[in-house]
Amino acid sequence: MPRVLSGIQPSGQLTLGNYIGAIQNFVKLQETHECFFMVVDLHAITVPQEPAALREQTESVAALFIAAGIDPAKASVFAQSHVAAHAELGWLFTTLAYMGELERMTQFKDKSNGKDSVGAGLFVYPTLMAADILMYNADLVPVGDDQKQHLELTRDLAARFNQRYGDMFTIPEPYIPKVGARIMSLDDGTKKMSKSNPNPGSYIALLDPPDVIRKKISRATTDSGREVQFNPAEKPEVSNLMSIYSHCAGITLEEITARYEGQGYGAFKKDLAEHVVAKLEPLQQRYAEIRSSGEIHQILKQGAEQVSGIAEKTLRDAKERMGFLLPR
Ligand code: TYM
Repeated sequence: MPRVLSGIQPSGQLTLGNYIGAIQNFVKLQETHECFFMVVDLHAITVPQEPAALREQTESVAALFIAAGIDPAKASVFAQSHVAAHAELGWLFTTLAYMGELERMTQFKDKSNGKDSVGAGLFVYPTLMAADILMYNADLVPVGDDQKQHLELTRDLAARFNQRYGDMFTIPEPYIPKVGARIMSLDDGTKKMSKSNPNPGSYIALLDPPDVIRKKISRATTDSGREVQFNPAEKPEVSNLMSIYSHCAGITLEEITARYEGQGYGAFKKDLAEHVVAKLEPLQQRYAEIRSSGEIHQILKQGAEQVSGIAEKTLRDAKERMGFLLPR
């Protein structure tokens, strides 16, 4: 079976963007692929994290994976820091990457922009991500649009390793949704919806209660027109709401346009809120059950046990090829 790997940072409330851009595809791909889904806690610490919050968020993201429909009997779900080989292989890839390549990463530019001091971890972040993916020889990596550049670097690093030390790593392909690869902020149609945005009105968190979701959508920015039409260049806000609608209601963009012809934005937004609530309510219920059962610790333990043999073998092979003297 072809392999799939992806990860999500436990660095704040997961949003509808994470769900539509990534988690929905995790759930789909587990039926046809051997899947590895990680809570990437080592990546989260590339910006300061309060220790208690990091622990809570790590557990929460893992529980959201399961609540969203990832089945631990089909996919390995684990925490990155539970498999020590990630940090070590990450270091090996850091030594293969060039400063210039890392300086070009738009995520690094965005996150470091205007800051007086920028952590070195933030700079080498993509080499750890490359290690995550290459560790399991993933064929496909389901991600949102913002991770495309990191995937390209991963492909370059894999090819560089293979060329220097002999063919070992699979060159992975990104798997990006056609609609919803970049869900935008509710208050600004030109910015990505992000869990790190200080304005909670700009995103829908997967755990937002129904009334909060209704309020956020009713306040979402639109434009001065009244046509519900998909045109990201000229109507970025409305187009974004349409992408969300399409995913939550399971209908096409054309069907949405036809449904609201001549009605303005009011009815559209009201229905959209109900579709989002209906999509998230069952997930929130399962989430509460999983958290109160405490079963997530067992799931993460089992996941780490399932993958650690593969990870240790990859690390050993890579070290051997690079010329490390292995203990006998
Ligand atoms: P992270 O934690 O920022 O986001 C997790 C996933 O959600 C997607 N995403 C979005 N998709 C659509 N619209 C949005 N507004 C939106 N916001 C986030 C992201 O593209 C991502 O797929 N570097 C990764 C984590 C990572 C990883 C990996 C991913 C570490 N190792 C290995 C894949 C494979 C990140 O920061 O994701």
